[in-house]
Amino acid sequence: MMAGEIRPVDDAKQLQQYINTYWRRGHVLATDDAMLRFTYSTPWVDRSVWPGGMSVLGLFDGGRMTGFLGSIVAPYPRPQSYWLALWHVLPETKGTGLGGKLLAKMQSIAEQCDGWIGTFGAGPEALPVYLKRGYCVRAGRRWIFSPGEKSSPKTIATRLHTAETLASAAWFEHRYWKHPVYSYQKQDGVVFRTEENEWGVVTHVCHQPEGADMALARIHAAESGKANGRRYIMDAWAFECPGLGWTPAPEDLPSVFHPPEARGSTIYAVGRPFLMSRIHKGDCDQDRPNGVAASVPDMATAGHH
Ligand SMILES: CC(C)(COP(=O)(O)OP(=O)(O)OC[C@H]1O[C@@H](n2cnc3c(N)ncnc32)[C@H](O)[C@@H]1OP(=O)(O)O)[C@@H](O)C(=O)NCCC(=O)NCCS
Repeated sequence: MMAGEIRPVDDAKQLQQYINTYWRRGHVLATDDAMLRFTYSTPWVDRSVWPGGMSVLGLFDGGRMTGFLGSIVAPYPRPQSYWLALWHVLPETKGTGLGGKLLAKMQSIAEQCDGWIGTFGAGPEALPVYLKRGYCVRAGRRWIFSPGEKSSPKTIATRLHTAETLASAAWFEHRYWKHPVYSYQKQDGVVFRTEENEWGVVTHVCHQPEGADMALARIHAAESGKANGRRYIMDAWAFECPGLGWTPAPEDLPSVFHPPEARGSTIYAVGRPFLMSRIHKGDCDQDRPNGVAASVPDMATAGHH
């Protein structure tokens, strides 16, 4: 039985080596130091809890890392929120309770500061694990803007949970305007980026305020004009239909573009003690470049902000 001590990771290189060896060779967090800092060393990381400045719990057997659970600390939907991003234990220890211990420890850290813990992007196989541990779960859908097609009925305005805080200007500054790889644009409160890839041209709507129908239609008109005959889509993730002209994305339409791959148009949001009222494509570690994407030129112009 492997010994397992859980403590905050303070050696970024050791974590990168683990990710590269056991998660995926060439993973962007293993190879791009700026992306690692952007993800795990946000300005909201409390250094009295995380002396190494990274919100990652490691599992150690002596000095050897045998697993980890990473989180992105953001100021929403609670001022100290832990958005889980990457969870792994050595394959030979899978199913022996160590991963569960990492999750339990991260939960207690979130609870100690009256915070929040959750994620956006969970697959269906992970849901029973979260449900048993008291998380709320809701499916998020991918939507595409399809003007002219019959769209889903418009939904009423979202009500925030009484304990919920919204993403602050400082969060937008960190998440979008200081992103180490991607350049985002903002128009009428909508944050998006348009990229050219093997499949065609895609406008990723990463944050959409409610009632942005007109702004989204204008962005679609302008950005689709750049496709020059290539395939084009504008998409967004949301619990509810983002507005007029949006329809659920077909399951066979690529949802990942480096390389183009249809990984489905339903993913799950989980959270405790409550579920965030809205989700966006820019939440958690979604809209993250992978190793390949980093070298693909971005069509979005810099200097948006
Ligand atoms: C996910 C992972 C970190 C969990 O660690 P672990 O040590 O195996 O987890 P535990 O033994 O503590 O089990 C925790 C729960 O996960 C469940 N579980 C473990 N492996 C599972 C699997 N492959 N599929 C579905 N559920 C699984 C266990 O049944 C347990 O649920 P329970 O509380 O209902 O009994 C580990 O399985 C792993 O490294 N997987 C590969 C990477 C991965 O898929 N990460 C998750 C996506 S980020």
